[in-house]
Amino acid sequence: MSLRETDAAKALKGRSLLSIADLSRPELDAVFDMTRRLKEHVISPSDQRAIFEGKTLAMIFEKPSLRTRVSFETGIFQLGGHGIYLGPNDISLGKRESVGDVAQTLGRMVNIIMARVFEHDKVTGLATYSGVPVINGLSDLEHPCQALADFYTIIEHKGKLDGLKLAFIGDGNNVAHSLMLLAAKMGTHFAIGCPKGYEPDSNVTAQAKELAKETGASIEVLNDAVKAVDGADVVYTDVWASMGQEAETEKRAKIFAPFQVNMELMNHAKDDALFEHCLPAHRGSEVTDDVIDGKWSVAFDEAENRLHAQKAVMVLLGS
Ligand code: CP
Ligand code: NVA
Repeated sequence: MSLRETDAAKALKGRSLLSIADLSRPELDAVFDMTRRLKEHVISPSDQRAIFEGKTLAMIFEKPSLRTRVSFETGIFQLGGHGIYLGPNDISLGKRESVGDVAQTLGRMVNIIMARVFEHDKVTGLATYSGVPVINGLSDLEHPCQALADFYTIIEHKGKLDGLKLAFIGDGNNVAHSLMLLAAKMGTHFAIGCPKGYEPDSNVTAQAKELAKETGASIEVLNDAVKAVDGADVVYTDVWASMGQEAETEKRAKIFAPFQVNMELMNHAKDDALFEHCLPAHRGSEVTDDVIDGKWSVAFDEAENRLHAQKAVMVLLGS
């Protein structure tokens, strides 16, 4: 059983995944291929258990989580290793001790670090000082593992990514950033419909537009939900107030109301469009029950694919 058949797969060994932009197109293809081999048991469960035998994954969480914790902990277990949960009160990253000291300590003991943080600088710092692969499990800037699982889910349902259109409706947040970068890399047209003042970070948009020149993907930032969804193959939404923005919930609810993904909005997408949501969902706010529970919805496929995609990332970076 060879885990690294291509040059791209070989090039990933020992690296970190902090941003989608860290991965080249062939490396992304290698991640999707490994996701398929693990999910479809092309690599048998017993061979999977041998990959990380005796190895450990540190999982740092500054914010709450259901999917990220359970998928990483289950994933490392299925690969024969052990996950160590470090919650917000365990290490107080950057407060009890510096990010660099935490990184150097963990790097002496564990084989991979996964971290969910507020400031993106913290995952960068962990990667700089730990000497082991660091995986971004969500920062204020990006959520790369989520985007990989979401695009793998599109491949499963549509058989391709190239030339499709993904419309993201809502806040130009961490999830939107990773999706926009991945769309640019994979040749998927991307349009965001968001209220004025809630556009994606201008540096990330510029980066996506530059990357899109190589694949022919279009990157559009619009302040109109209907225009963004027009002819979309995938309609995506996320919470209006992300973790850390709870104090703005009420203010945002008013501003984002015209950007709810409901049946009327879905009717502007293609007839066979998919609906995606990273979850957790605030039903009745950014999405209605009939959409998230309806024929379009692949929200729980995405949740399951977090497990398979992250196992692929761990295998390629950390084994
Ligand atoms: N989508 C996602 O990352 O979910 P959690 O916040 O529950 O981990
Ligand atoms: N944008 C959301 C994603 C949750 C998975 C947040 O950061 O809270």
